[in-house]
Amino acid sequence: MSERFYRGRRLRRTPGLRRLMRETRIEPAQLVAPLFVVEGRGAKQAIASLPDHARLSPDLAAEEAAALESLGVGAVLLFGIPARKDAAGTSAWDDEGPVPSAIRAIRKRAPGMVIWADVCLCEYSDHGHCGVLRDGDVDNDATLAGLSRAALAYARAGADAVAPSDMMDGRVGAIRAALDGASLTSTAIVSYAVKYASAFYGPFREAAHSRPILQAGAPSDRRGYQMDGGNVREARREARADLAEGADALIVKPAGPYLDVVSAVRRAVDVPVAAYQVSGEYAALHAAAERGWMDLEAAMWETVLGIRRAGADLVITYFARRIAESLAAPALAEEARR
Ligand code: PBG
Repeated sequence: MSERFYRGRRLRRTPGLRRLMRETRIEPAQLVAPLFVVEGRGAKQAIASLPDHARLSPDLAAEEAAALESLGVGAVLLFGIPARKDAAGTSAWDDEGPVPSAIRAIRKRAPGMVIWADVCLCEYSDHGHCGVLRDGDVDNDATLAGLSRAALAYARAGADAVAPSDMMDGRVGAIRAALDGASLTSTAIVSYAVKYASAFYGPFREAAHSRPILQAGAPSDRRGYQMDGGNVREARREARADLAEGADALIVKPAGPYLDVVSAVRRAVDVPVAAYQVSGEYAALHAAAERGWMDLEAAMWETVLGIRRAGADLVITYFARRIAESLAAPALAEEARR
């Protein structure tokens, strides 16, 4: 009896054994790197709330995309920060705006890189909401036209996929119809089907200057359209609705506080599922590491591995470049993951 009991430690003894027996792995091709794009040339503005990230003009975004491509990172996800904002967010569909310009520049500089473009009005509207306001609320159906125009502009510029993150009802169907109507049938829709109202978007809103501002009668947060944190059945419902409207792949967001949701959505659908380790998840680890309370490199591996283990096929993460660099230097990566 005493010689027959289970000894789990046998397979944990050495780095080689641990590597051999590991059930879940991370590959650069499974990672999507968010990039913030501004207008101009040669512009690089550090983002205080997102260490190691900057707002880049299209030429420098193309440089970054080329570096990510050579590291094997799966895709970039573009967010635009326009010079001019208005109530309807009209610069979202300007063909010369930061995102279409960056898409063209990346296509030229890094032809093989997969390009996703985030579709939302919050970075382009002067009030910071994800759609147009009417009578103190975000008007769902009036917003669909603007979202569709933005998606068209990014698809025309050459995006492989558009990623609507606004959480308006019916936007996937509206965008699919607009794309198909313009013969852009090959552009995929990767929809943020499951997006919760979250405190973890704080650093992103600093980066994109998109914090909803208090205006007469307008809501001060996004709870009227983003999901309530208590719900997981609703996540499956949202996922099915977006698939029925024509989504090709789905995003769950945030990732870390919603791993049960990632797992539930993975089991409910048969399309690729991406989970977004959002700005606050990234910034919190950096802040703790800066204080000497946590090892950043180890926390990076542990959190992204957890998201993969929960069932995400792809992980959108601000760590994408750092992870890919680590994996490109195997000794370093092994050291980090001993
Ligand atoms: C746009 C959008 C947001 C994020 C992705 N797309 C901000 C928001 O909804 O407030 C957040 C991403 C992050 O925090 O890293 N709607």
